[in-house]
Amino acid sequence: MESSNPGPEPIIQLHDIRKIYQMGSQEVRALDGVTVTVYPNEYVAIMGPSGSGKSTMMNIIGCLDIPTSGRYVLNGAEVSEMDDNELAAARNREIGFVFQTFNLLPRVDCLRNVELPLIYAGIPRSRRREMAEISLANVGLADRMDHKPNELSGGQRQRVSIARALVNNPSILLADEPTGNLDTKTGEEILDLFESLYAKGNTIIVVTHEEYIALHARRIIRLRDGKIESDERVDRPDLDQKIRDAAKKRAEDETVENASNL
Ligand SMILES: Nc1ncnc2c1ncn2[C@@H]1O[C@H](COP(=O)(O)OP(=O)(O)OP(=O)(O)O)[C@@H](O)[C@H]1O
Ligand SMILES: [Mg+2]
Repeated sequence: MESSNPGPEPIIQLHDIRKIYQMGSQEVRALDGVTVTVYPNEYVAIMGPSGSGKSTMMNIIGCLDIPTSGRYVLNGAEVSEMDDNELAAARNREIGFVFQTFNLLPRVDCLRNVELPLIYAGIPRSRRREMAEISLANVGLADRMDHKPNELSGGQRQRVSIARALVNNPSILLADEPTGNLDTKTGEEILDLFESLYAKGNTIIVVTHEEYIALHARRIIRLRDGKIESDERVDRPDLDQKIRDAAKKRAEDETVENASNL
């Protein structure tokens, strides 16, 4: 039976991607022939020493940077052929970015910070407000919407930036060392949040230096000198069973709800 199912289309296909910087007479190969395929609802950790090309790879996946050569297909679309406007549109539609330093606007409250990508996407004001409220509630910040970033803890700030990254319902959440500026306990909270986003069907790619953080993912890609050194599955059958159970229960609850609405 299974062989007749073609399975999902990849969400990310990188083919022999290179990013080369010419520094005077010296050539820096930030990425040196990277080929990777990621499917929807994968949870991938990218690891490797400082300078191995992790951020470069994330920036290319996130359409923030373009490769020197190679092909990138994002959700079926050829990124290498897009002009600047198409790139910006693809980024807005497909990608949510979370940075180590949060990158929140300091002078405005959480709601306005989370609304920002919706302004770029041209969503009307009333709808924006509602979507931002839902996204903040989803990361457990329903009671902090009117706080400015400096009126929040580090973990709460990172949750605001995750709410902002997810407010558009992007296909992919990209996080470059999202726990790098957080203490271990707060970092664990963020990882729990990623786990529940993964359980809801999101595709997550996270860069980290910490082995224990990578072990939260289901796949670990290791870079060295701009090349893929290894690409391994992490087996977590206990957790994956829990996730299937939760999805089943959600589906049942929805059926009951729909029936009672009739
Ligand atoms: N704009 C640039 N110009 C020249 N070289 C660059 C540029 N950006 C990055 N590099 C070089 O490319 C290589 C990869 O950089 P990248 O930022 O991807 O590393 P990284 O794996 O994210 O490292 P870290 O763990 O320190 O964040 C490094 O050697 C870096 O010096
Ligand atoms: Mg980096």
